[in-house]
Amino acid sequence: MAYPTDRPRRLRRTPALRRMVRETRLLPEDLIWPLFTVPGRGVKEPIPSLPGQYHLSPDMAAKEAKEAHAAGLPAVILFGLPEAKDAAGSGAWDNEGPVQQASRAVKEAAPEMIVICDTCLCEYTDHGHCGPLKGQEVDNDAALPLLARTAVSQAKAGADMVAPSDMMDGRVGAIRRALDEAGLEHIPIMAYAAKYASAFYGPFREAVDSAPAFGDRKSYQMDPANAREALYETALDVEEGADIVMVKPALPYLDVIRAVRERFDKPVAAYSVSGEFAMIKAAGAAGLIDEQAVMLESLTAIKRAGADLILTYFAAEAVRLIG
Ligand code: PBG
Repeated sequence: MAYPTDRPRRLRRTPALRRMVRETRLLPEDLIWPLFTVPGRGVKEPIPSLPGQYHLSPDMAAKEAKEAHAAGLPAVILFGLPEAKDAAGSGAWDNEGPVQQASRAVKEAAPEMIVICDTCLCEYTDHGHCGPLKGQEVDNDAALPLLARTAVSQAKAGADMVAPSDMMDGRVGAIRRALDEAGLEHIPIMAYAAKYASAFYGPFREAVDSAPAFGDRKSYQMDPANAREALYETALDVEEGADIVMVKPALPYLDVIRAVRERFDKPVAAYSVSGEFAMIKAAGAAGLIDEQAVMLESLTAIKRAGADLILTYFAAEAVRLIG
């Protein structure tokens, strides 16, 4: 049976019919908004590489989070720019660091808001790599206790979830053990499981001044050419105790999101990264695309590919449109 019996256009004729048969619905509860915290009070400085996003002191992060929560946003993920950086990245586990202070402030301002902390050292190391160095290389096993200590500090500051993004081998297990030993066995881990060495992170690294001082991240983040390896990485993180698994970036890796969705029964998150956001913003500002329409289409496509959760700089804007 085919045309003229089959006419797929019948169900596309009106907005109501299209809505009735729509397969994928983008919902506010799918979205997680990244916030960039800095030391101080009353600070809200525009981030040049991420139009419409700000460096926020803990009090201002709480204010933004409260407003976004009232508009329907369920979750934020916090990144931090410390006062000073050093070789080990010790600012990451400073109980009075901007991320820890912002965790407390957001939970106080909006107790129902889910606060996730990005767990990594690259924002805190003076060399910009995601772990301490041994010569010119990142020392995997030396990074693990530092990451674990960071996660415990974040959870003690009120974070509802920690999200290791460093791509060291064994970090999910190390963090799980440290959380459990600290009596934080109820804190889930969202693991950046398949994180690629992507050029799409450029605007983020400018925002947190975390570009590696030498070399690149290719010895720990994944080769963009590999998809099978994403399943291997994800399997290891699940075995080590990941509660949610993430694929990052999102739009250029929809096949990986789909493959992870099909293989694993954990919630799947996708991080639509800074470069994806910046490209849509730039093309919108240049009048080349309809920014809002492209934003919603992109987020819907990421969900259609299999993501249950989407981390996006558009989150606060999107909930106001779909909420
Ligand atoms: C920290 C981290 C990065 C991003 C999230 N966590 C940067 C990196 O790995 O270089 C990128 C986020 C984005 O580009 O939006 N390791």
